[in-house]
Amino acid sequence: MLLLTIESSCDETAAAVVRDGRTILSNVVSSQVAVHAEYGGVVPEIASRKHLEMITPVVRQALHKADVTLEQIEGIAVTRGPGLLGALLVGVSAAKSLAFARSLPLVGIHHIEGHLLAPALEQHLGYPFLGLVVSGGHTHLYLVEGVGRYRTLGRTIDDAVGEAFDKSATLLGLGYPGGALIDRLARQGNPTAIRFPRPLLHDGSLNFSFSGLKTAVLTHLRKQPAVPEGQELHDLCASFQAAVCELLVKKTEAALELTAARRLVVAGGVACNSGLRAAMGEMAQRRGVELLFPSPALCGDNAAMLAVAADAYLSAGCCDRLDMDAVATWSM
Ligand code: KG4
Ligand code: ZN
Repeated sequence: MLLLTIESSCDETAAAVVRDGRTILSNVVSSQVAVHAEYGGVVPEIASRKHLEMITPVVRQALHKADVTLEQIEGIAVTRGPGLLGALLVGVSAAKSLAFARSLPLVGIHHIEGHLLAPALEQHLGYPFLGLVVSGGHTHLYLVEGVGRYRTLGRTIDDAVGEAFDKSATLLGLGYPGGALIDRLARQGNPTAIRFPRPLLHDGSLNFSFSGLKTAVLTHLRKQPAVPEGQELHDLCASFQAAVCELLVKKTEAALELTAARRLVVAGGVACNSGLRAAMGEMAQRRGVELLFPSPALCGDNAAMLAVAADAYLSAGCCDRLDMDAVATWSM
């Protein structure tokens, strides 16, 4: 099936053309990061307006790059939620209009479902697998038994891990979003220089908590005569990242132990983090578990990732009606 997929849940306007839920013909992402950076975070109203401006050119570009016409498209998929309601509505309205105009089947996909199944676009993805989704809005552990069969094992009880990266980066004066910058600075730092807390590490649950870690960064900074720079900044970033990685890896390892899963997927924007990739890689190798990370372009928000689930649903005849609405809060 040749699908056109659309994503607009946060600050990226994205569209893709994917064949059979496997072959990416195009994957266009228009980021609004520069617009929101000025405000230190995503401004929902501005995000909606930007999506409105970009949705048609982005869809056109996705078709053009894939060298297909709208007449050749056989189905439409869109992120239905969760996310910013005004932002989601732009993608959902565009998808519904195209489906109506061309009499095509339409399916709404959960954003996290998209992230979780993204590795299937690059390699064989067997089931069941343990899935860790780490992004700006989510930190969730799932047991994935098949498309549409997800069991939540753990989640953050406060901030998402990407949020902790971004808020800490803001405290350090690094700008927004600072996750990737902390990652880069951490590479030349000493991860044992500062002992940051590991909240919930030994609580016996598979839940996460990151807000205390961000507060620990703030408390540390208040004790310093000036905002750290040079080696001190590298050490701080490396120590923060080490705490985050230890939390993510230890809880994931406990979930592997509990479920006896032999495959692990780590997805979402924070899955780009080099420290996390190395630490997860070491743990997976030690346990003899197959580890799949999407390539960086498929870790962050994109539309191609929706095609894996969408192709499975539409091929099975499951589609949504044209009165489908966007859902800001939606558990999977
Ligand atoms: O999945 P994503 O693009 O959007 C959401 O669904 O939230 O994730 C964005 C998040 C941001 O918090 C960003 O700072 C973080 O992913 N991120 C990183 C890295 N690259 C992106 N965090 C840590 N290290 C990175 N290399
Ligand atoms: Zn995302």
